[in-house]
Order: sequence, then structure tokens, then C-alpha cells
Amino acid sequence: MIKLTGVKKIYQMGKIDVAAIRGIDLKVENNEYLSVLGPSGSGKSTLMHIIGCLDTPTEGEYRLEGRDVSGLSSNQLAEIRNKKVGFVFQSFNLLPYATALENVELPMIYKGGSARQRRKRAGELLAKVGLGDRARHRPTELSGGERQRVAIARALANSPSIVLADEPTGNLDSTSGKEVIQVFDELWQQGCIVIIVTHDSEIADRTPRIVKLLDGRVVDDMQR
Ligand SMILES: Nc1ncnc2c1ncn2[C@@H]1O[C@H](COP(=O)(O)OP(=O)(O)OP(=O)(O)O)[C@@H](O)[C@H]1O
Ligand SMILES: [Mg+2]
Repeated sequence: MIKLTGVKKIYQMGKIDVAAIRGIDLKVENNEYLSVLGPSGSGKSTLMHIIGCLDTPTEGEYRLEGRDVSGLSSNQLAEIRNKKVGFVFQSFNLLPYATALENVELPMIYKGGSARQRRKRAGELLAKVGLGDRARHRPTELSGGERQRVAIARALANSPSIVLADEPTGNLDSTSGKEVIQVFDELWQQGCIVIIVTHDSEIADRTPRIVKLLDGRVVDDMQR
């Protein structure tokens, strides 16, 4: 479970304070599927970074599965992130010279285990996102939708309980976008918390909950 209480994030830009998040209370139960909407600059990515332990709040409390993670060191955060969180970004963020298989193996290296086990699991994850026959391709040899599915397979490498996607279909045509969203649907069905930042109302319409941000605050929280 995810629970944010009075969370603020203020960036210091020289003498100017930029309030990216101005006080958010948000509770997400296990196995919820939600979209986060809001105009550019409303704090969506900042919120995802905090939820995903890439960053910490300036003020307020963040509890992840009951544990207060607001004040942890960057090493402690990295450990939680590696175990519990899978990130998918708009720009894929794959290693350009590594194959699909190697990209998916990467997060497993920090966890230990044998190279053989890693390779096997990476192959299984690629098959799961429909890319079993693309394992040896490098990112430049894949379409945008295929790259994003490699990125999703990589995000799943360490069996995260939380999958966070920041505009995962932003760079995709509508067909590839639909394929990618289907993978998120499946992850939700398998028990993950799935949170998708999107500008696409078609995606938002299929998630059971929609949270809207404006100027760093939650202005709407709809359950269907
Ligand atoms: N590292 C940073 N340093 C300073 N200001 C930042 C930083 N990151 C974000 N901001 C500011 O915080 C506000 C919220 O940014 P954020 O990236 O969370 O918005 P967003 O809702 O994701 O927008 P978009 O839809 O354009 O991606 C913006 O005004 C932005 O300029
Ligand atoms: Mg953003």
C-alpha cells in the first residue's frame, strides 16, 4: 500500500523556490490501477518520482507498505526501488548497444543469482510482452512499441509490486500504444499496483481510478 500524507516537494532554484507538489494526500491500496492526469507542470512526474523512491518529499510523510520512507538515504531508497518498483518512461531509456535480452537482464545483476538464471528469466519476460522472437535485436532494430515492451519487461525483472509508467505511450502510434497498455492491464490482473501518467483520455478511461493534478495538488479523485 502507498500512503502520502501532506507531501510537498519544493525545488530550490538559486534564490527561488519552485513548489512542484504543494500538499498531496493520496492512498493507493494493493492491486489498484490508476491514471494520473493533469496539465504540463502540474507535478505528475514529481509525484511518480516520490512514489517510486527516486526522490523524497521536502515535507510530509510517505509510507510504502507501512514503512516510512520519507527520510531514507539514497542507498536505502535504491534498495527499495530495486526490489519493489518497476519504472517505465516515455523515452524507453534502453541501453542502445545492448540487445533486448541484455537490457532486461540488467536490473537482475544487482540482485545476484547466476547468469544462466538471469538469461532464462529475461527470455521469459520478453516472451510475456510478445517479443520472444526479438531477444537478439538492439533497440535501433526494434519499433517504438517493441522498445517500450522491452522497457516493460526490464521493469518487471525483479518482480515489482508497483509498476509506475510516466507517459508510456507518449512516443507511440495508437496501435503500439494499445499493445503497451494491454501489458499494463495484465500486470494489474496479476496483482501489481499500476499507476500510469497519461495525457490520453482513452487510457484513463480504462483504469478504475483517475487522479487529477493541478498546480501540485489533487483536484479530483474518481473511482469507478
Ligand atoms: N529538478 C527540478 N528542479 C526544479 N524544478 C523542477 C524540477 N523538476 C520539476 N520541476 C518543476 O516542478 C513543476 C512540476 O514538474 P513535473 O515534471 O512534475 O510536471 P509534469 O506534470 O510531469 O509535467 P509534464 O506533463 O510536462 O511532464 C514544474 O513547474 C517544473 O518546472
Ligand atoms: Mg512529466
